[in-house]
Amino acid sequence: MHRVLVISLLTFSTFIFIIDISSTLAIKSYGDSCNKRKDCDSSAGLTCLKNSCQCSRPESNVYSESAKACLIRIGRRCDEVKNGTTSSSSSSSSDADGNTTEFQHESSTTAQPSSSGGLGCIENADCKKLRARHWCQCRENFIPNAEGTECRSMAKYGEFCDENEDQCDRLSGTVCLDGNCQCPFADHQYFDQYEGICKSFAGGNCSIPKMSPCVPNAECVSAQVRMGYTTEKGIKKIHTKTVTQCLCKSGYSQTSNGFCFGAYMTSCSSKQPCSSEDHLACVDGKCKCRNPLHEMVDENTGSCMALVGTVCDSRRGPRCVENAECIDGHCECNGGYSITPKKTCLLDYKEPCTPNSCNNYSGLACIKGKCDCFDSYLLYDVSTKACVGVSSSSDE
Ligand SMILES: *[C@@H]1O[C@H](CO)[C@@H](O)[C@H](O)[C@H]1NC(C)=O
Ligand SMILES: *[C@@H]1O[C@H](CO)[C@@H](O)[C@H](O)[C@H]1NC(C)=O
Ligand SMILES: *[C@@H]1O[C@H](CO)[C@@H](O)[C@H](O)[C@H]1NC(C)=O
Ligand SMILES: *[C@@H]1O[C@H](CO)[C@@H](O)[C@H](O)[C@H]1NC(C)=O
Repeated sequence: MHRVLVISLLTFSTFIFIIDISSTLAIKSYGDSCNKRKDCDSSAGLTCLKNSCQCSRPESNVYSESAKACLIRIGRRCDEVKNGTTSSSSSSSSDADGNTTEFQHESSTTAQPSSSGGLGCIENADCKKLRARHWCQCRENFIPNAEGTECRSMAKYGEFCDENEDQCDRLSGTVCLDGNCQCPFADHQYFDQYEGICKSFAGGNCSIPKMSPCVPNAECVSAQVRMGYTTEKGIKKIHTKTVTQCLCKSGYSQTSNGFCFGAYMTSCSSKQPCSSEDHLACVDGKCKCRNPLHEMVDENTGSCMALVGTVCDSRRGPRCVENAECIDGHCECNGGYSITPKKTCLLDYKEPCTPNSCNNYSGLACIKGKCDCFDSYLLYDVSTKACVGVSSSSDE
């Protein structure tokens, strides 16, 4: 009888296999009490441990109710597994103690139909190759729990999450806060819908650069900042603190809402716009003032400013140049200032001054703290607003 079975097995292995299963109906399932190892359903990866049918390697396997079999946990080796079914070559097991090897031999020679589950990875996981070996890994958009016994679907930005579980889509940089997947640095960041990631604004926290890339044209910079305060007893205390924040790269200026756009004379294109807050436009591939005859770039702010006499709008459009104001729709020099040929405003005659603040185009210089003609033989003519020579008129 036994001989007949072996011969048939070689010829019709699949057929015999089914008979083999049905002929051992006495096998017990998970949790059933048992005496011998063979009492338990080995095709489901079970063995008899402490008189109960359990997964043979509890540290790497977990019983799945839905698959009715022991499956391999996340992060455990699955070299002998082909996505859900065991392969027939498991004898070369590496990390085997006596019992384990024996079991694997048994399961592989008995072979398992895929319907019985066999020793595959847990649900929503695949056996994937990583550094020459195969490991059970959660499928895309699934993340493992701490024990590796479950792959749960990842929560996306704004979706519900459990704060005790690391459940938010890590690649998006979100974390679980107040039961929602959010960007970790609150108003230092925003969620970029197109790229599906959290981004840090210019000036914003980027202390975990992998999770918080900066807005375009900005980089994450760490700097030691000296902070100091004086105690009540007048003792100065100084400590250094590391501040890690996104800063606009050189050539880009930060807008009030935390983005970095091309600064004056930076290369630009339709995809790399110029800072519209600075009223710069992309002209022949460089960021420049849109109206060069009526505007100039302020060296301190990098913004285009409307020249004196230019039409202005105090709510929008470029502001008037330094020391000028928008009055009745036109830029005018403030009191105490006079216009230069460049349509800017510098201090007028007799005004208190600092070096280079007087209208040198009118012949004025800062002398003894007041704007005066640069040569004391000249007189200031109020009607033309200029220092004029007096020698010829006094000679007459
Ligand atoms: C398991 O399936 C995944 C996805 O279909 C595939 O990438 C992987 O190579 C498979 N692993 C094996 C061992 O066949
Ligand atoms: C198998 O395990 C049992 C208990 O865990 C032990 O008593 C026995 O010696 C082991 N057998 C082999 C071959 O290692
Ligand atoms: C940035 O975030 C980190 C981590 O949450 C925090 O420790 C640090 O104080 C933050 N820095 C600033 C400037 O907000
Ligand atoms: C006035 O001063 C400015 C800056 O100091 C200089 O660029 C300019 O040439 C001077 N103009 C005259 C007329 O000297």
